[in-house]
Amino acid sequence: MENSGRTTIGKTVLSMAITAVTVMMIVECAAAEQLYKVGSRGWIPNYNYTDWLNQSHEHFYVGDWLLFVFDKHSYNVLEVNETSYENCNDQGFIKNITRGGRDVVQLTEARRYYFLSSGGYCWNGMKVAINVEDFAPTPAPASSTENGSPSNIVSRQMIILIAFCVALEWMVLFL
Ligand SMILES: *[C@@H]1O[C@H](CO)[C@@H](O)[C@H](O)[C@H]1NC(C)=O
Ligand SMILES: *[C@@H]1O[C@H](CO)[C@@H](O)[C@H](O)[C@H]1NC(C)=O
Ligand SMILES: *[C@@H]1O[C@H](CO)[C@@H](O)[C@H](O)[C@H]1NC(C)=O
Repeated sequence: MENSGRTTIGKTVLSMAITAVTVMMIVECAAAEQLYKVGSRGWIPNYNYTDWLNQSHEHFYVGDWLLFVFDKHSYNVLEVNETSYENCNDQGFIKNITRGGRDVVQLTEARRYYFLSSGGYCWNGMKVAINVEDFAPTPAPASSTENGSPSNIVSRQMIILIAFCVALEWMVLFL
């Protein structure tokens, strides 16, 4: 294909513009609040949520959301204080998160949050302590891949956006 110089330059400029917009969108998505599903298999007994946190290497920032997925007929989700968390005390909880069994809670403050299930299941491991930090650091280019698969991050929109931009760029370059 014998392209004139002008169209090639036009394509290059357009391609650069699309790349810039893509990068901007990625940065914006990385800074935006995230939704994290608690536990690789949801909110269940006989599962160690401390191990899950250590393995997932996630950081939680103010504005992020937690998603608890559970059988509402057997379990619940209560926010409690540290003492109650340590002692599996479900009396005088701070907040009842329980609704339909796919329940979210926003982490609005930089502090440690404590959640447990009553009904005795806290003794079977249904307790989790989440440390929430003040602000998201500037994302490093490699941050999304360095810990393997970011399995707990629900960022489908971001993937769709990137795929769209890559497809657009290929069209500009090769059609
Ligand atoms: C934690 O909550 C329990 C139950 O409401 C309460 O008795 C206890 O005083 C609280 N502890 C602290 C340190 O606030
Ligand atoms: C928490 O809220 C749910 C839904 O409103 C309710 O069914 C449940 O009884 C509450 N649990 C406690 C311990 O208050
Ligand atoms: C989870 O496992 C750690 C060791 O990896 C242990 O210290 C901790 O007590 C366990 N937590 C629960 C709730 O069983």
